[in-house]
Amino acid sequence: MKHSRIMAGIKCVVFLLVLTFQWTFIRGDTEVSCIFMERCLLPCSYDGTAVVIHWHQVSAGDLNVHSFYNNQDQLKLQSERFRGRTSLFNDQISAGNASLQLTKVEVRDEGKYKCYTSTDGESQKSFINLKIRAPVRKVNIQQVGNIITCSSEGIYPEPELAWSTSSSSNSTSNTTTTVRQTERLLYNISSSLIVSDSGTDQDYSCTISTHRNRKRATLFKPASVCWSNTETTILCPPSDTSFSYLIWRFNHSQSIVTRSGADISYTVYAGWEQHVKHVSESGSLTLRDLTADHEGIYTCELSDAEETKVSENEIRMMPTDGGEVP
Ligand SMILES: *[C@@H]1O[C@H](CO)[C@@H](O)[C@H](O)[C@H]1NC(C)=O
Ligand SMILES: *[C@@H]1O[C@H](CO)[C@@H](O)[C@H](O)[C@H]1NC(C)=O
Ligand SMILES: *[C@@H]1O[C@H](CO)[C@@H](O)[C@H](O)[C@H]1NC(C)=O
Ligand SMILES: *[C@@H]1O[C@H](CO)[C@@H](O)[C@H](O)[C@H]1NC(C)=O
Ligand SMILES: *[C@@H]1O[C@H](CO)[C@@H](O)[C@H](O)[C@H]1NC(C)=O
Repeated sequence: MKHSRIMAGIKCVVFLLVLTFQWTFIRGDTEVSCIFMERCLLPCSYDGTAVVIHWHQVSAGDLNVHSFYNNQDQLKLQSERFRGRTSLFNDQISAGNASLQLTKVEVRDEGKYKCYTSTDGESQKSFINLKIRAPVRKVNIQQVGNIITCSSEGIYPEPELAWSTSSSSNSTSNTTTTVRQTERLLYNISSSLIVSDSGTDQDYSCTISTHRNRKRATLFKPASVCWSNTETTILCPPSDTSFSYLIWRFNHSQSIVTRSGADISYTVYAGWEQHVKHVSESGSLTLRDLTADHEGIYTCELSDAEETKVSENEIRMMPTDGGEVP
């Protein structure tokens, strides 16, 4: 008789455990996604008037993130990593709001957080699963010799990179992709593609993506321009949509001119003032007073929110004396 009562008691405890487990399981953790270096809100609410609030990062060995009791923040035990980056909404604590604000979020902040609140009557716990994202901001593409390089920096989580060409039948299998993680745990990605001399007669695109966003850069087939007098006009890639940013560069390094969006005005960089005659609506650049020193590669880069379009133009001076052709 006594034995069976104990058994019934055990069954009851097991039943309660299962129930509690299921309840926690069904309720799950709240997913919060925040952007690298931005501000982040970890929500937490409770019933009653909290006397004690403790925030912990449980996935990092139960680090103390922020505590509040005796009507004030208690930061003596706060982990060094969160110093100066946390706050509660003190004026709303009495209204059941124990949400934590975290600023300048790092990749290391990713993980599971526990919000513990205790009121006179009871204590409550809730969990937040924080994910950090550093979206792909810009994809760079350029060609030097017969190597096309595509790259982007400061991405999280780990990105993927894919090449494609304008003529889908031609493969882009000869690529080498390198991914490096920085000290702040962000990813730099870079890929190079070797093109045969005959294979440069098409456009190459490179797409870098995470599961949250993607950006593309296209390198248009190169053009060769000769100038016969001291003036010439070089074209940008064809662009059906309006672009938000234009930059012209010389030999992959020097900036010549930039223009943003629908602006009519443009900024000319030092050393190029007397050579930039005009920048057209479509971005084409008219140069004047050119000398042999201006021979080289002129890159036009147009970008908008999704895509960067690049064309590289090789500009050479036409031999004037009709003599030796190089
Ligand atoms: C707590 O207060 C902040 C600031 O007013 C608000 O953004 C947030 O939504 C509130 N959270 C909850 C759980 O009430
Ligand atoms: C890839 O490029 C290397 C270096 O130019 C070359 O030796 C190799 O044959 C290429 N492979 C393919 C499959 O094109
Ligand atoms: C990642 O890219 C940034 C920006 O170009 C650079 O400063 C940094 O050194 C790179 N880090 C690694 C590990 O490649
Ligand atoms: C595509 O590749 C073939 C060889 O496989 C080559 O003959 C052809 O020129 C390439 N097309 C372009 C547009 O580069
Ligand atoms: C620009 O690059 C070309 C080769 O593409 C080179 O011949 C020329 O000397 C370079 N010009 C300057 C000013 O660096």
